[in-house]
Amino acid sequence: MKKVLITYYSKGEVAKVAKRMQTSFEKKKFKVTIKEIKLKEEMEIKKQFKKEKKLELSSMPKSISSYDIIVIGTQIVSFTSVPAVNAYIRSLPKANEKKVILFATGIGLPGKAIKKMSSLLSMNGCKVIGSKVFSSIFEFDERKLKEVDAFIESIQV
Ligand SMILES: Cc1cc2nc3c(=O)[nH]c(=O)nc-3n(C[C@H](O)[C@H](O)[C@H](O)COP(=O)(O)O)c2cc1C
Repeated sequence: MKKVLITYYSKGEVAKVAKRMQTSFEKKKFKVTIKEIKLKEEMEIKKQFKKEKKLELSSMPKSISSYDIIVIGTQIVSFTSVPAVNAYIRSLPKANEKKVILFATGIGLPGKAIKKMSSLLSMNGCKVIGSKVFSSIFEFDERKLKEVDAFIESIQV
């Protein structure tokens, strides 16, 4: 059975997408581990930007080697990914050719959110196999969550 690790940072919307991805992967017979990225000391996002390089995460899976795919989700803040997510990516061990899926939710101004995460990941050898920005202007109802299923379906794993 293939294994996927879904990680995300969220105040609500990103979590809805992450949980739907869990269901989508389970339908594809993946074994899913889902984990919220949390800071040791929670703080406002504006403050996170000031401390970006010094942020400390609360516990995350130490090894990613047993997973076939890693999913990383962020909200978009000031046209980029959340510092806590960037800190998580920086904390990942070197993982050559590890398959990664990136997603973000935002109100329509994605800026460099995906690019930022991709460039951090390329430094430890990961390979981005799919990415998508979901609009969170309207509530994630069943119809919108079908976009999540379609996205996961579209990725060749
Ligand atoms: C301070 C702040 C800045 C934001 N900046 C952006 C932005 O630049 N582009 C965008 O598309 N959405 C932006 N958003 C909207 C959030 O990305 C969006 O509401 C997201 O879905 C929230 O996800 P969450 O509920 O999981 O935290 C911003 C929201 C906040 C609170």
